[in-house]
Amino acid sequence: MPVIGVASSDWDISRLRERAHESISQHGHMDKKIFDKLSARLCYVSGDYGESKTFKHLHKTLDGAKHPLHYLAIPPGMFPVVVDALATSGCSAGARVIVEKPFGRTLASARKLNQTLHQTFDEEAIFRIDHYLGKEPVQNLMYFRFSNSFLEPIWNRQYLASVQITMAEAFGVQDRGSFYEGVGAIRDVVQNHMLQILTLLAMDPPVRSGAEAMRDEKLRIFRAIQPLRPKDVVRAQYRGYRDVDGVAKNSNVETYAALRLSIDTWRWGGVPFYVRVGKRLPLTCTEVRAELKRPPQKVFDDCGHEPNYLRFRLSPEVQIALGTHVKRPGEAMAGRDEELIAHDDSDDDKPPYVRLLGDAIRGDNALFTRDDSVEEAWRIVEPILDPATPVHEYAAGSWGPKQADKLVASDGVWHNPQRQGTTF
Ligand code: BG6
Repeated sequence: MPVIGVASSDWDISRLRERAHESISQHGHMDKKIFDKLSARLCYVSGDYGESKTFKHLHKTLDGAKHPLHYLAIPPGMFPVVVDALATSGCSAGARVIVEKPFGRTLASARKLNQTLHQTFDEEAIFRIDHYLGKEPVQNLMYFRFSNSFLEPIWNRQYLASVQITMAEAFGVQDRGSFYEGVGAIRDVVQNHMLQILTLLAMDPPVRSGAEAMRDEKLRIFRAIQPLRPKDVVRAQYRGYRDVDGVAKNSNVETYAALRLSIDTWRWGGVPFYVRVGKRLPLTCTEVRAELKRPPQKVFDDCGHEPNYLRFRLSPEVQIALGTHVKRPGEAMAGRDEELIAHDDSDDDKPPYVRLLGDAIRGDNALFTRDDSVEEAWRIVEPILDPATPVHEYAAGSWGPKQADKLVASDGVWHNPQRQGTTF
């Protein structure tokens, strides 16, 4: 299968091969035999996306390919231009298209982008990428829920008190200042990655096998999530963000967000889902913590400190842990909190992009976001984007602004992921 690079840089094929070599050596594992095979399949089309001759050249290079996969890792503003040009040049016949995030900036722009794509591609041919869905531990959330029977009876409003999802990153926006200025944390990771995790935690089991049945269940949850109100969110920016290259000196873009979401279904009515994301926090870790209600009767004076909980660590390690109480050895019926941890330290996970690009090549869209869901996700976050709420400040390396504590106060406190192993 040939791989064709298209860009405006005035490169030739040997420059593309060099670049591929450099990148694989730095970020992957260089196997000369495999690289030579790949290298022989690379082609390069140099040209401007705004010019029809670029697409004529691409059409020629495609050489009658039956199902080309166009991977649009391009500035979002170029999506309509490129999609139109693929259609008029004949490059879209039988083709599929991968669209990188961000998919729109608002509900209206996402709808417009969907319309533009649908003028050329059927929905089954459109692959909206969210790399979180390609992560092994994220897939395991659904597998774990629907392949075990012990969880289902407690996985609802009768037994769960609240759910927290934390995506903490120790690093800042690095060299992506100007990109981040147009995005902010809510658009960058809440509208997509975090809401996807939330739907996997909250959805009902699909009634049939197959991608569409699963995507239908996820859509039911998206539809049941109330649009966020300003009082459901705390936005903040780490001190020092405004000094990053490409960031405005008076920027009000959030690098941290804490949110409270409600899902209006029979299963979840009254159970708050808290989401917290941030750059320059104390460590890098994504974790889900579902807290159970306390037992209805206090049989012992000392019934443990923390309520029971189930904890899924999604990265950097993979863990499933159950927070329990056990009796402390001795005369007294007194106990201590004890976590039962299952830890997966195998390192044979497929990187998300390997899985997702492979799926798209085969035409399997189960792990990609459907048009209706992406629009629902924008509907949920839209009321709290940009100036809807103030932006507080937090110290780099802290767990964010103190204003966020109030958001969870009625259900306890934020549970900060702990450092474990040596990966941090
Ligand atoms: C990207 C965001 O989608 O996800 C980044 O643009 C973020 O800001 C990244 O750092 C996190 O992904 P991962 O796989 O490293 O957790």
